Amino acid sequence: MVLKARGLRKTFTGPGGTPVPVLHGVDLEVKGGELVAVSGTSGSGKSTLLNLIGLLEPPDAGEIWIGDERVSHLGRRAQCRVRGASIGYVFQSFLLLAGLTALDNVLLAARYIGRDRDDARRDALGLMERLGVAHRAEHLPAQLSGGEQQRVAYCRAVLNRPSLVLADEPTGNLDDDHARVILDELHALAADRGTAVMLVTHRTEASARADRVLRLDQGRLVAS
Ligand SMILES: Nc1ncnc2c1ncn2[C@@H]1O[C@H](COP(=O)(O)OP(=O)(O)OP(=O)(O)O)[C@@H](O)[C@H]1O
Ligand SMILES: [Mg+2]
Repeated sequence: MVLKARGLRKTFTGPGGTPVPVLHGVDLEVKGGELVAVSGTSGSGKSTLLNLIGLLEPPDAGEIWIGDERVSHLGRRAQCRVRGASIGYVFQSFLLLAGLTALDNVLLAARYIGRDRDDARRDALGLMERLGVAHRAEHLPAQLSGGEQQRVAYCRAVLNRPSLVLADEPTGNLDDDHARVILDELHALAADRGTAVMLVTHRTEASARADRVLRLDQGRLVAS
């Protein structure tokens, strides 16, 4: 099992200190080679769930394992190490660094784990070529369209071949053709490389290609 989560709970604090309960005990397992789609209405907690699993935010309760390691209770530095080595996260809002070119944004992942620069650069440009953004390699994020930024963010997330890929609406800004390229890539990551892929999406064609489709409903994950 690449990912296992048990009893994840999260309540935010809203204006005036009012509690905003979002997750009420989420259980989840994703195996290597499995593509799991997660749907749910806007505000149902899909991004919150990915943030907990991606170790960007601590759950109020519950446990998370990546591979054999219980990562939910590690310290910040150790969690950073796990994120860099094992998790690729495609953010809903891209989160590209404004001062770096598209290529350098993609290469950030490699720099972080100290990978050989020439090797990483070759890989990065190959990926960017497949995603149709290689011709924008030297552009800054502000000089890219939303869909181009999204594809660059995808390249950054998968460059290090993480065992777990978390993709939050990775086709949200894309036309059908480019959406299909990303879905094909995610599918191939799971099928050919044994990656565990968790995909938040509203696209029915994306869910149709998933091995399992789950839905966030009232703070819990249910089969869809
Ligand atoms: N930092 C925060 N403080 C307070 N409330 C928050 C915070 N982050 C998220 N929320 C609330 O948690 C709920 C779930 O948010 P989340 O972003 O996880 O939804 P989502 O399912 O990803 O929605 P969408 O499909 O629109 O992206 C929302 O109602 C939101 O207002
Ligand atoms: Mg969201």
